[in-house]
Amino acid sequence: MNIDSKNRYGRVSKFLHWSMALLITWQLLKFADRISDGEHWVGQTLVP
Ligand code: HEM
Repeated sequence: MNIDSKNRYGRVSKFLHWSMALLITWQLLKFADRISDGEHWVGQTLVP
């Protein structure tokens, strides 16, 4: 259950995977927010 088996990932791996997914999503949202606020070089140079 908690540890990985040959057939499926356990709770620990699933927790780490979804924590990673949350952090990456948060990071992308923050990135988009900074672009739309005009605080990021991507928005200032590439978007125009
Ligand atoms: C925004 C980030 C991510 C999202 C939204 C995401 C989402 C998902 C989803 C929906 C699945 C299918 C789950 C299932 O079938 O039960 C999956 C599987 C998987 N993900 Fe991610 N993931 C993310 C990041 C990552 C990263 C960074 C890695 C590796 C470094 C990773 C490795 C895997 C692997 C190996 C599987 C297959 C699991 C299996 O075979 O049961 N994922 N992911």
